[in-house]
Amino acid sequence: MDYRTWGMFSRDQPPGPPGGDGTAPNLYGVHPYHMCVEDDGNAHSVLLLNSNAMDVTLQPEPALTYRTVGGVLDFYMFLGPSPEKVTQQYTQLIGRPFMPPYWALGFQLCRYGYNTLDRMKQIYDENRQYDIPQDIQYGDIDYMDRQIDFTIDQQNFQGMNDWVQSIRQNGTYYITILDPFISANETDYLPYTRGTDQDVWIKDGDNHDQIMFGKVWPYLPNITMDPNADWDTMIANYAAHTAFPDFLLNSTKQWWVDEIQAFYTDKLQFDGLWIDMNEPANFILGSVNGCSDNQWDQAPYKPRFYGAVLADKTICMNSIQGGTVHYNTHSLYGWSHSVPSQRAMRQATGKRSVIISRSTYPGSGVYAGHWLGDNTSKWPHLHTSIIGMFEFNLFGLPYVGADICGYFDDATPDMCQRWMQLGAFYPFSRNHNGKGYRRQDPAAWNGTIAAASRVVLLTRYRLLPYLYTLFHKAHSSGSTVVRPLMHEFISDKVTWTVDRQFLWGPALLISPVLEEGAHDVTAYVPKARWYDYYTGKEVVEAGRMVVWDCDMDCIPLHLRGGYVIPTQEPANTTVFSRRNSLGLLVALDAEGRAEGSLFWDDGDSIDTYENDQYRMLTFTIDQGVLSISVDHDTYSPTPELHFASIRVMGSEGIPDDVTVDGSKLGSSDIKTTDGVENMWYLEGLNLAMNERHTISWPVPMDPASGAVSPKSTQALIFALTSVIFLLFSTQ
Ligand code: GLC
Repeated sequence: MDYRTWGMFSRDQPPGPPGGDGTAPNLYGVHPYHMCVEDDGNAHSVLLLNSNAMDVTLQPEPALTYRTVGGVLDFYMFLGPSPEKVTQQYTQLIGRPFMPPYWALGFQLCRYGYNTLDRMKQIYDENRQYDIPQDIQYGDIDYMDRQIDFTIDQQNFQGMNDWVQSIRQNGTYYITILDPFISANETDYLPYTRGTDQDVWIKDGDNHDQIMFGKVWPYLPNITMDPNADWDTMIANYAAHTAFPDFLLNSTKQWWVDEIQAFYTDKLQFDGLWIDMNEPANFILGSVNGCSDNQWDQAPYKPRFYGAVLADKTICMNSIQGGTVHYNTHSLYGWSHSVPSQRAMRQATGKRSVIISRSTYPGSGVYAGHWLGDNTSKWPHLHTSIIGMFEFNLFGLPYVGADICGYFDDATPDMCQRWMQLGAFYPFSRNHNGKGYRRQDPAAWNGTIAAASRVVLLTRYRLLPYLYTLFHKAHSSGSTVVRPLMHEFISDKVTWTVDRQFLWGPALLISPVLEEGAHDVTAYVPKARWYDYYTGKEVVEAGRMVVWDCDMDCIPLHLRGGYVIPTQEPANTTVFSRRNSLGLLVALDAEGRAEGSLFWDDGDSIDTYENDQYRMLTFTIDQGVLSISVDHDTYSPTPELHFASIRVMGSEGIPDDVTVDGSKLGSSDIKTTDGVENMWYLEGLNLAMNERHTISWPVPMDPASGAVSPKSTQALIFALTSVIFLLFSTQ
């Protein structure tokens, strides 16, 4: 609140440090939205639904000053009063996040600059040799012919579709990139000629009959590039003129859907779409003719953000888009690009598919997820990625993550190993690298890093049923998936500033190592019962800062008492893990209670929840009785799944016997770990997922006080009530 000014205007701007003058840089997306937590812990939020360039200054009063250069002043306030309620209310207005396909929760591998299909294959194969779990392989713009959308480089990527289809048998999906600018310098290039016929382009502001041309990735045909040319010379001499689709027009939306369908049918059957550069980015200022001296480009106030003029790194403000000037619609471009992209992918694949967009705006989460853009391989970017995840969860875009191991510059082995551990807990978990930088995929380093990456990714895959259920909750009721600690512990003010740890939903605490050379983690453990995920051991130091030893192969994970977390035996892709047996992690709270749920469907059909094709299970545990109930059952996996293991943490001692659906198991079936008290587990169960189950065990007397435990108390009350009833009924 110290007079920091936030500039908002979508921009092709990599995340970096704030400007030295207290101005925070404007990045790819625009969300004129903030949440405020007042001193008493009550939260509210405010949206200014305005798409013009603006800046917002925070003042110590406390107060905010909005300065927008146009548009309407539609303010919305969400009264919470809890942070989660605020987010649920906000997404009720702007639209609830899309449900990602199950495979989109798997690990993803990408880089700009594979340069050839052979290299892409080689790196993919090497990661498989190390058994790295991987659900998705990407193609960046180097698969294209001269970086032109809807083409495939026939020299370096010949046979790409055959290969993409062949990796399906390993359970690997494929996502391709498409940019929102179309080369105008080609002969025989149907996407451009059809687009022109259908009048889909943004128009020149000074001559409304003409197309507005910029210059971005596509380059000219029949040229010999000087390999030593600098960036400006490259753009001046080799970049093609490109037209920008006006996605606010219905004709453009239909054209985009049709072009994607044609590309899919004729050239490449891909599963998801990565839409990039949609701020929209432009490598020259304004247009190939610059920008004229007009009231939009020379507006009297330029809000405080990067660039001397509004058109810096983008197109002229007076160009015509959506029936108005780009000045009004600029920051909506990424959102408007996402809408027909989702429609196109659902039509082409007949499946749910997934869209990742660089530029976003309120409501984008209905259509797309987001990666945090071109970060750098440097240690502070591990930390800032957590803040980015928090923000986008507040914005209704929970499918979010940063480029693991960093985009610009070379990562170091230690940094990349730590980043793989952190990134294994990004909802969108993708290792992506810029062109020309050192390889940084899990197999790039040595066997130790590959093995550490594999272990942490297998942990992720084991926890995917929980993550998928959190996404269902985000989709159906608007909750966050990655959650700051304060969302769960608002009355504990220490949690308000914790941004180096995060939660998955209410129950899984992730405390990664974020510093170079560190072999321990300083973490805050909020007041609750917590258990070490790996050992089941209870954490004794709740309610304070702790230091945990943490060698290179460690990332601390803790389960919160009061929750039941569904798990599944992992595999190298979700296609195979989804067939494996399920498990339950039962973390008891101080009263011996816990609850949880599991959402399950076929993982990739469109709108399974809306179309009533899903299964919902709830788990409750109270006084030594665990009930698994099937609350909704309009989808059945084939073959049926089974729960094979149950681990109970925080039990009052180890029970002598456990009854599973009426059959008593003896002490030899009840497994324990030396040195871990109050934790026991069952293995080798075969409890069908579509049936109700009851697992119970005696809860002992408390030997110290002689007091009876909660379950015995309940039994006693029941017995007394029965006696009283008997007394009355015999009178
Ligand atoms: C942009 C994207 C980056 C991508 C590159 C090439 O910089 O942010 O992720 O690799 O373009 O397509």
